[in-house]
Amino acid sequence: MGRLNDKVAIITGAAGGQGKVEARLFAQQGAMVVASDLNDVLLMATVKEINDELGREAVLGVCHDIASEQDWQHVAARTINTFGAIDILVNNAAMPGKTREDVWAIDVEETTRILNVNLTGTLLGIKAVMPEMKRKGRGSIVNISSAAGLVGGISGGSVAYSATKAAIGGITKEIAIGVAGEGIRVNTVWPGLIRTPIMESFSKEVTEAVLAKVPMGFAAEPIDIAYGVLFLASDEARFVTGADIVIDGGFTAQ
Ligand SMILES: NC(=O)c1ccc[n+]([C@@H]2O[C@H](COP(=O)([O-])OP(=O)(O)OC[C@H]3O[C@@H](n4cnc5c(N)ncnc54)[C@H](O)[C@@H]3O)[C@@H](O)[C@H]2O)c1
Repeated sequence: MGRLNDKVAIITGAAGGQGKVEARLFAQQGAMVVASDLNDVLLMATVKEINDELGREAVLGVCHDIASEQDWQHVAARTINTFGAIDILVNNAAMPGKTREDVWAIDVEETTRILNVNLTGTLLGIKAVMPEMKRKGRGSIVNISSAAGLVGGISGGSVAYSATKAAIGGITKEIAIGVAGEGIRVNTVWPGLIRTPIMESFSKEVTEAVLAKVPMGFAAEPIDIAYGVLFLASDEARFVTGADIVIDGGFTAQ
């Protein structure tokens, strides 16, 4: 018996990194998964890899820019048409900022794109799935933030990235309270350092400096975060909403 049997999940940013591991874990646990990403070539290879492993078509790939409301409408409609429901949304996709020493040296164009993708993209996802979740009177939304939204000095100087990750905590609580009476749960996962391609956008110095401060002494593998996301997505968390789950090896407990 899978922990997500009969559930339909949308996972963004699922071509690689954390999202790919979540898509595989959710499918292994019995969910039908719509995996979305901007990188369509990598996404389709990932979808094929997971479906081949499972021996069934549990994952559908849909190319998607999370900053586009039109794309979100397409993803929601495709999910309902293909699998008949939307029970779970994992707002996982995000873009990092450029590493910079002068944290105050804001590039307006870059900042606008990061806000549009990481923050507006998360809100648009919630907006797109809400009608179906409200219709069914159930749903679980998991927003992926970052320890960079809780403490300074670990985003490589990307103030915009940190700002979006901090804001995700606020929007999660606001929306969680707004829909709590309708059977829909909204929670945030706050990961510390994870071994994924996004780590390559940080300089070696930043990565080593952060790692040196992790009390448990290592960076997470994506599966360490995915198990937390799985719990929140599943009915095991039926009394959990507006909550923060920090998975960071003790980094922000200091
Ligand atoms: N890796 C870490 O150390 C770390 C730490 C804390 C939080 N996180 C968070 O975990 C989540 C997953 O990150 P990851 O480490 O797997 O990163 P990643 O770069 O490996 O994956 C992010 C995915 O999002 C996709 N993406 C980017 N912009 C998009 C857009 N506009 N529309 C659709 N897809 C888009 C990318 O193509 C990529 O496949 C992110 O929210 C990230 O902020 C990561």
